[in-house]
Amino acid sequence: MSSKVLKYQHASLSGQITVPGDKSISHRAVMFGSLAKGKTNITNFLAGEDCLSTISAFQSMGVSIKRDENTVWIESDGIEGLKEPTEPIDLGNSGTTARLLMGILSGLPYHFTLFGDESLSKRPMDRIANPLREMGAKIDGRNNGRLLPMSIRGGNLSSIDFKPPVKSAQVKSGVLLAGLFSEGFTTVEEETKTRDHTENMLKAFGAEIDVEGTTVKIHGKQKLHGCDIEVPGDISSAAFFLVAAAITKGSSVTVENVGLNPTRTGIIDVLELMGISIEVVEKRTIGGEPIGDIKVASSTPKAAVIEGDVIPRIIDEIPIIALLATQADGQTIIRDAEELRFKETDRIDSVVSTLTKLGASVKGTKDGMIIEGNTLLHGAVTESFGDHRIGMMIAIASLLTDEQVELHDDECIAVSYPTFFEDLDKLTSIN
Ligand code: S3P
Repeated sequence: MSSKVLKYQHASLSGQITVPGDKSISHRAVMFGSLAKGKTNITNFLAGEDCLSTISAFQSMGVSIKRDENTVWIESDGIEGLKEPTEPIDLGNSGTTARLLMGILSGLPYHFTLFGDESLSKRPMDRIANPLREMGAKIDGRNNGRLLPMSIRGGNLSSIDFKPPVKSAQVKSGVLLAGLFSEGFTTVEEETKTRDHTENMLKAFGAEIDVEGTTVKIHGKQKLHGCDIEVPGDISSAAFFLVAAAITKGSSVTVENVGLNPTRTGIIDVLELMGISIEVVEKRTIGGEPIGDIKVASSTPKAAVIEGDVIPRIIDEIPIIALLATQADGQTIIRDAEELRFKETDRIDSVVSTLTKLGASVKGTKDGMIIEGNTLLHGAVTESFGDHRIGMMIAIASLLTDEQVELHDDECIAVSYPTFFEDLDKLTSIN
């Protein structure tokens, strides 16, 4: 396990960067490109470990996928061309690969074994396995069929009308993808809209899919056709530098070409709510997704209550928002975010224990946290717990401490942002 001594104390950030491609969109581009007949070219692909797990899963089913850095070329014979893999499929740390892939594999008349790393093996899979079982897939696994490793025997699915019991784009997407293989129409009716990259991208691959409010209806037995996908920068990665610029003196940062899909821009709303100086410029559209450049400058953050429908739109940004709240002018309350307990770590516990170690005053609640503002953070020996977003939150926290911060298990940051420290060094002018 590698460690890093973070030497960013009291640095300010200035300049512009582009962050790597969006993780959610990169996964889907590989999955749908593999299901589509013909050629799919992906540019600005996120070559993070999670998305590489998705590539190897489809390579193990015989799809030709070639990659050079951030460009991926897929050539597939479509769904009929997929083969039964001879080896178990390794999902690594990736929840998105697990849940979406389970939807796809459920539609194929083969047997699959899936496993993941220690963290993924603890994360709930019944949320997706249950509706897929209802559609006809035979799925079993550890802990009464709830946890990885799992086995799937797919094929012969029937459609369902599904109301997800949790707010999860992964679950919605897994069911919609299984719906692609079923007879008739499958609908997913969400209580709150979650990220809609599956719906948008399936349309780009030629699928018929109807979206009305929070209900999505997919037509079964459809064929996808290869297409070119340009992946926007990941707003969840950009969030770390947006907050870093806001909480350090004399900073001004522009993150260019960031995806601005409205189901993902909760971080912009929260930064505005918390009084951060933020501007979105150069708005345009690539491959059906809005993008733009986001500018943030040093600000005096205000405390806020963060709850309700914005939560699914900031679900991956809450660790860095919690750090921001430690610098606000009062008490910040985050609630309705119980889903944080099912991420790469229990992110309520890991954020609370890490920020506390760094000198913050934070209390975990059942579904969120209460964070006191105006706190002076200090150096500490910390660990990421193998969670990329906790690792990056710690690195940004070290900009505020007098003493050095030691980060154990920093390599997990490569899951979503392999060049994170290069970009932080660039913005802080540290080599
Ligand atoms: C994702 C959805 C979110 C998010 C994850 C990626 C996706 O998870 O936390 O990083 O690509 O669909 P849930 O939908 O389970 O909340």
